[in-house]
Amino acid sequence: MKVGVIGSGTMGSGIAQVASTANCKVIVYDVKQEALNKSKTALEKVMNRLVEKGKFGTNRAEEIQNNISYSDQLQSFESCDLVIEAIVENPEVKRNVFTELEGIVSENCIIASNTSSLSIASLAASLKKPERFIGIHFFNPAPLMKLVEVVPAIQTEESVLNKTKETIESWGKVVVQAKDTPGFIVNKVARPFYGEALRILEEGIADVATIDWTMKEIGGFRMGPFELMDFIGNDVNYTVTETVFKAFYYDARYKPAFTQKRLSEAGYLGRKSGRGYYNYAEGASNPKPKQDEALAKMVFNRVLVMLINEAADTLHMNIASAKDIDLAMTNGVNYPKGLLAWANEIGIEKCVTELDSLFNEYHEERYRCSPLLRKMARNGEVFSL
Ligand code: NAI
Repeated sequence: MKVGVIGSGTMGSGIAQVASTANCKVIVYDVKQEALNKSKTALEKVMNRLVEKGKFGTNRAEEIQNNISYSDQLQSFESCDLVIEAIVENPEVKRNVFTELEGIVSENCIIASNTSSLSIASLAASLKKPERFIGIHFFNPAPLMKLVEVVPAIQTEESVLNKTKETIESWGKVVVQAKDTPGFIVNKVARPFYGEALRILEEGIADVATIDWTMKEIGGFRMGPFELMDFIGNDVNYTVTETVFKAFYYDARYKPAFTQKRLSEAGYLGRKSGRGYYNYAEGASNPKPKQDEALAKMVFNRVLVMLINEAADTLHMNIASAKDIDLAMTNGVNYPKGLLAWANEIGIEKCVTELDSLFNEYHEERYRCSPLLRKMARNGEVFSL
């Protein structure tokens, strides 16, 4: 199979590596020669490291590198079977590239976007044959993250969807299917992990270190929400939240937090700027968590039940299957357990009670319980996974 990748930045380079490792011939195209050079050098470094670690021999490393060619001409995609676009998140720029690309590739070539926040339908509409268009959403770093969300638009033909899923699975990825709705699965369902932690902080219920400690210690999450926001970058994380909030017509559930906006405005972006919720300067002292069991339990239950509610509502709105929602969160953001499996374990009725008590306390929309959870509790049902 011949694969074209448009854009040789972070994601494009990673996707090219994944496809070439799966023995596809790959052409990477970028408007900037400098970006192409950088991508090539980065891959060389990765390959050297993998050889040093004994993952494979130099022959295999060369084979993977030789599978990729680099081009500053879109025309090189002429004989591609699949083209994945990973350029700047600008709808105009993306649409122009797709229109030009369609004039170059064959009738049967599948055209895909790795976009995180644009609607697949709006991008598909830039083509004369929109039924060949689909969303293929990788996670960063693409070679390491197992999950890929495949997102058919309303225009996408069934055969294109099936061929895409089959191809990406053959690349060794865990493929889940999501409806073309804002944030797809992961970037939607994960919002309360950050949002509810921020809310708890803003209310003064617990501090950053305590909340992080709680989520790791009781929840088994690899990183606490504040550590993770610092890792992702507070500017990036804030933008995702704001985009999802706007795209869901200002649903209060996704309301961004001033705290994060201020950090972002101050340039406290997290690890990359040396300071975020924590100070990363050498020798800097950071606050210690308050290891209070009752407080920790309360904080953990609150964040978890909000995550479960979001996952349940995602199922309720048929954005993805129960199995795919759980696979997405365990493989896309490394949650220790699928949220719906977690709900089964805790008991659906208990989740409803917790959510209702939050709603009764605050009378805010963000704490409304998903109708699906309520119905399941009433009927004594569990999620079938
Ligand atoms: P990046 O900024 O690292 O790379 C973008 C590349 O596209 C640059 O090398 C740039 O020269 C090139 N480019 C810009 N306009 C072009 C054009 N008209 N034709 C050809 N090349 C062009 O961006 P990144 O982070 O790799 O993101 C790319 C896409 O992937 C975006 O749509 C983003 O939403 C999506 N994405 C990003 C993730 C991330 O964590 N960075 C995760 C999942 C999706």
